[in-house]
Amino acid sequence: MIICPRCRGLLEVVMPTTINFSMEAARTRRFGVWRYRELLPLDDGITPVSLGEGGTPLISLTRSLNIVNKAINVYVKFEGSNPTGSFKDRGMTVGVTIAKNIGVEGIIVASTGNTAASAAAYAARAGLRCVVVLPKGGVARGKIAQALLYGAEIKEVDGVFDDALEEVFMEVVINGGRRLYPLNSYNPWRLEGQKTVAFEIVDELSFVPDTVIVPVGNAGNISAIWKGFKELYSYGLINKLPKMVGVQAAGAAPLAMTWKLGIDELYAIENPQTIASAIKIGKPVNWLKALRAVRESNGTFITVTDDEILAAMRALAVFEGIGVEPASATTFAGFKKLVEDNFIDRSEVVVLIATGHALKDPDTIVNKAIIRAEHYNLIVK
Ligand code: F0G
Repeated sequence: MIICPRCRGLLEVVMPTTINFSMEAARTRRFGVWRYRELLPLDDGITPVSLGEGGTPLISLTRSLNIVNKAINVYVKFEGSNPTGSFKDRGMTVGVTIAKNIGVEGIIVASTGNTAASAAAYAARAGLRCVVVLPKGGVARGKIAQALLYGAEIKEVDGVFDDALEEVFMEVVINGGRRLYPLNSYNPWRLEGQKTVAFEIVDELSFVPDTVIVPVGNAGNISAIWKGFKELYSYGLINKLPKMVGVQAAGAAPLAMTWKLGIDELYAIENPQTIASAIKIGKPVNWLKALRAVRESNGTFITVTDDEILAAMRALAVFEGIGVEPASATTFAGFKKLVEDNFIDRSEVVVLIATGHALKDPDTIVNKAIIRAEHYNLIVK
């Protein structure tokens, strides 16, 4: 159902070639995912399972730019202000709406934490069961707390996220996906919701940024955002496309390695390691879609170390008042590298997708992020 029986590839939603949508008219609606309803693959008659997702702030960076020593127009799209504190809510509102309408008993996801929190909340809202499969010891405390609070059934597996995802595949094979509908990001409906980040950026700026920097784990989000920009382009709503940059943690960088080696097979990492637990993934299922997105957009994949992530997290917090979790901080660390390498120049407009809220992972803040801040020579007040 989720995988093409012919080529074994992931399915993708193909939108109609013409569409009745105008940004002007849409702007009379609440800012958020459902403002762009005509650009989403759902019948008008369906009532979304919604918690007011999307419509997140686009915050321009100011004081932190001293770190890169250049005046560049950079914005952070702060996805931490979604209902459960991460971008996952954009996809979950669409995915759970579909699940509810096809009449399943519940949903099931493997997760490094944010998908679990989001799935649990939207399932609760829809009156569905929610089973989350988590890597034992690999999920930040805030995320587990959320999944518990929203009443998810938690199953832990030994290993990393990739093992948890295997477990979900098994579960779905056994029961045919009828009882528990799988809502990981290989499910194309979720990516449809996630593409609305692109719509919101264009909607708010009224132009297309030059570069969009995205943390990459299972590689769904970067693919979804690129799809969003491409659709706006195909409808004639924008006349250029941004470069997409995927950032991975150095110890969990299957796509950055694949990119560097210039190969067409995924360079899988058996035992991924990083402090950014959200993106501690060695075999991203959406790897091919993500590779195509970066290739088509003339972007790149880069890696950042755990120390760079922690320093970036601290910098965004003390210089801008923006609190993000480690995976999201990879974008600022990656941005700094790209400026130093002259991949990004002064005239560009850059958007960093800050995917999750700082409170998702309080232990990393308390135990690590503050101590390691000296990497940017921060004077801590
Ligand atoms: N940032 C955060 C905060 C995430 O939680 C994730 C993924 C990503 C970035 C990467 O997005 O997987 O689409 O490339 N979290 C998933 C989860 C894996 O289970 O919550 P991706």
